[in-house]
Amino acid sequence: MEGKSITTIEGLSTDGTHPVQEAWKEIDVPQCGYCQAGQIMTASAFLEKNPNPSSDEIKNAMNGNICRCASYSRINEAVAVAAEKMN
Ligand code: FES
Repeated sequence: MEGKSITTIEGLSTDGTHPVQEAWKEIDVPQCGYCQAGQIMTASAFLEKNPNPSSDEIKNAMNGNICRCASYSRINEAVAVAAEKMN
């Protein structure tokens, strides 16, 4: 990763007000929270590339992130809400 920039969940925003984080709070996505940093970072990177995704595109983009609490419907809803906030 030499010469590359890496953003972690702590660097997404300094005060938790990134649109994805705001959408996560609005939809009340987490249950245990174990998967949430990865879910949020995947959603953020995806929305940077595709700011107006369809529901199928959201499902495909988030497909590789496993949530043992099965909060997939709220995750997908929050990504759609975040997309609206970013546009
Ligand atoms: Fe528990 Fe995703 S919220 S694993």
